[in-house]
Parts: sequence; C-alpha cells; structure tokens
Amino acid sequence: MSTRNEQTQGHGRKGRDPLLLNKIAGGILSAGLVFWVATHISMFFTNHEAPKKPVIAIAGAGAAKTAAGGVPSIDGLIAKADVKKGMSFVQQQCSACHTLTKGGANGVGPNLYGVIGAPMFAKAGYAFSAAAKKKAKGNWTYQKLNEWLVDPQTYVPGTHMSYTGIKNDAVRADAIAYLRTLSPSPVPLPKPGPGGAKPSPAAASGSGAPSIKALYAKAVIAKGQSFFQQQCSACHTVTKGGANGVGPNLYGVASAPMFAKSGFAFSGAVKKIAKGNWTPHALNEWLYAPMKDAPGTHMAYPGIKNDQVRADVIAYLNSQSASPAKLP
Ligand code: HEC
Ligand code: HEC
Repeated sequence: MSTRNEQTQGHGRKGRDPLLLNKIAGGILSAGLVFWVATHISMFFTNHEAPKKPVIAIAGAGAAKTAAGGVPSIDGLIAKADVKKGMSFVQQQCSACHTLTKGGANGVGPNLYGVIGAPMFAKAGYAFSAAAKKKAKGNWTYQKLNEWLVDPQTYVPGTHMSYTGIKNDAVRADAIAYLRTLSPSPVPLPKPGPGGAKPSPAAASGSGAPSIKALYAKAVIAKGQSFFQQQCSACHTVTKGGANGVGPNLYGVASAPMFAKSGFAFSGAVKKIAKGNWTPHALNEWLYAPMKDAPGTHMAYPGIKNDQVRADVIAYLNSQSASPAKLP
C-alpha cells in the first residue's frame, strides 16, 4: 500500500491542487488495483478448473480419442449414492436448463425425465447440436453418463451444454443416482464389479489414473512444454537451478526423490505419500488428480484429465534433466 501511495503522490505533484488530487487518484488507483488483482486471481483459478478450448486444441486428435474410456468407472459409488443429495445438487446446478418432471418442457437443454436407458441425444422436440448427434450411439448407460457429466466439452467437443462438469466422483454418483429415479421403471443400479470405483476415495491410494504407457511413444515434448507454460509455470520453474515458487522447482523431477526438493516446504499431505523416487507411473497418478492422490496437498490444481496431454507433459518434464530416463 505505501509504495502505491508514494507513486500517486508523484503523479499528484503536477496537479493544481496536489492534496485533493492525491486522494482522488490514490482512491481510484487502489480500487482499480484491487479489482484488477481480484479478477486476475479469479481468472487464474477458473482457468484451472475448466481448461479452455486452446488447451484441448493442443491435445489435437488425442483429446477426442481418449475422451471415452478415459474416465474411471464410478459404478461402485452410484450403487450406494445419496439420492437426496443428488436431487438437491441437480436442482441447483441443472434445473436452470433442464426440467426433470414427466412431460416437462424442453428448455435450454432437453427434459431429463427417463434419460437413463433412453437413446442418447434424441429427446423428441429438442434440437440437439450436431456435435451431440455425432456422438450419440445407443442408449445412455451409467458409464456414458459418468463420462458426459464429468466433462461435457471433452465428451462432446462443441456441445451446446455450457457446463464445466461435475468433477467430484461422489457428487457425480449422487446426481446420476437421482437421475435414475426419474422414471416409472428405473434401470437396475450398477453392480460394483471388480472394475468399479473404490468405495472410499480417502482410503484408496493413487488417483485412479488410467495407464498411459502406450501413449509415451506418441508424446510430443513441444506440446508438453507449451501446456506446461500455460498451466504450470505460474507455480513452478523448470530450469536448472530455478527458484522454488508457489510450487517447487521441477528440474530433474522425473527421477528425483518424491516431494523432497531442498528449500521447499512440502505439505504434510504429500510427505505422507512420498515413497522413493518419481517414476512415470507415479507422475501419471499425481498429475491426473493431485488433490485426490494426496488429499490436502498444497498443489491447488485439478489435474490433467486428457491422457495424451498427461503423457506429453511427463515426457517434457523428463526431458528437463541432465539425464532423462527412458520412458515406457
Ligand atoms: C447452461 C445450461 C445447462 C446446464 C446448467 C446443464 N445442462 Fe445438460 N444440456 C444442456 C444442453 C444445451 C444440452 C444438449 C447438448 C447438445 O445438444 O449439444 C444438454 C444435454 C444434457 C443431457 C443429454 C440429454 C439427452 O436427452 O440425451 C444430459 C443427460 C444432461 N444434459 C444432464 C445435465 C445435468 C445432470 C446437469 C447438471 C449437473 C446439466 N445437464 C446442466 C444444457 C445444460
Ligand atoms: C497453483 C499452483 C500450482 C500449479 C498450477 C501446479 N502446481 Fe505442481 N505443485 C504445487 C505445489 C504447492 C506443490 C507441492 C505440493 C505440496 O506440498 O502439497 C507441487 C508439486 C508438484 C510436483 C512434485 C514436485 C516434487 O519435487 O516432488 C510435481 C511433479 C508438480 N507439482 C507438477 C506440476 C505440473 C506438471 C503442473 C501443471 C500441469 C503443476 N504442477 C501445476 C503447485 C502448483
């Protein structure tokens, strides 16, 4: 604050009434600064919450290809979801665009009564986007809804549903379990088969990231680099000897001891999961969903959900080292 006032005093000296102008200019300047900082901070966080199109575009063809099947099943969570919580969530987040009652009108989005088990993107009387129609194949299943609702824009690039998605697995399960009840004969709940989600995210170790071993062969280090610059460099330097910032310097991290960079104060949460050195597998788990891999981590970043982009970024991190490891 004091430096800002000194600056405004400097400008004020030129005015006819320095004292008055000082106050006005100071007031406007501080208000402007506070506003600027506030909007930029909020933009910063929203950007991370919902990576915008360019990020997807960097992924190129990979984005569309890995969209399906890249989302871990939450069948286990749906089977024991809280329908009431799902109802209040859907009423808050979805009902601006969707009616839920039998025979309800289509609005910004189609009426959702009986959607589970119904043909995808085919509600009578509703004009779906070409993007959605292209993706439509058979009926809505639990897994398809799971993939759609976690990130509609990734599942159907170009969809008209402008909603960032429900990132929390348990909340998504609650919402889907509620949608299931909107039917005279709800389809049977999924069985939490062996591939189902782990019952308790806190108890599970790892973030449930799909394996990306096959994708390293196609990884493009330059793409990883530009993604890193957009999404990571606000908190991390990656050059040799670079300073620690909000996060630790990442030079050589791909094979370094986990969460042990000297001079950086790691959270208790990550120290608990630190075990040996970073491997591509451990980086894959971490970067898919840091806050799930180590609940309570200070890395406030939702993770890289696109498998190929994750592979690109890991390949890039691996290259930032005196002796890059051989990737799988
Ligand atoms: C800002 C408006 C908006 C919000 C909010 C929204 N949707 Fe949608 N939704 C749409 C639109 C528009 C479509 C049609 C997509 C297209 O044509 O690309 C759609 C399509 C759907 C479909 C496919 C329906 C069918 O008949 O195949 C489902 C399921 C769905 N939304 C569920 C939800 C749920 C659950 C939520 C809340 C978590 C939600 N939507 C929030 C606008 C919205
Ligand atoms: C908002 C700031 C922020 C962003 C954005 C961010 N990180 Fe981090 N990162 C951190 C913090 C803080 C830690 C330390 C975690 C802790 O102590 O809980 C960390 C830790 C790490 C580690 C472990 C480092 C070590 O020495 O073991 C890696 C690897 C990493 N981040 C990679 C990335 C990548 C790649 C991206 C972009 C895709 C990214 N981070 C985005 C803040 C951030």
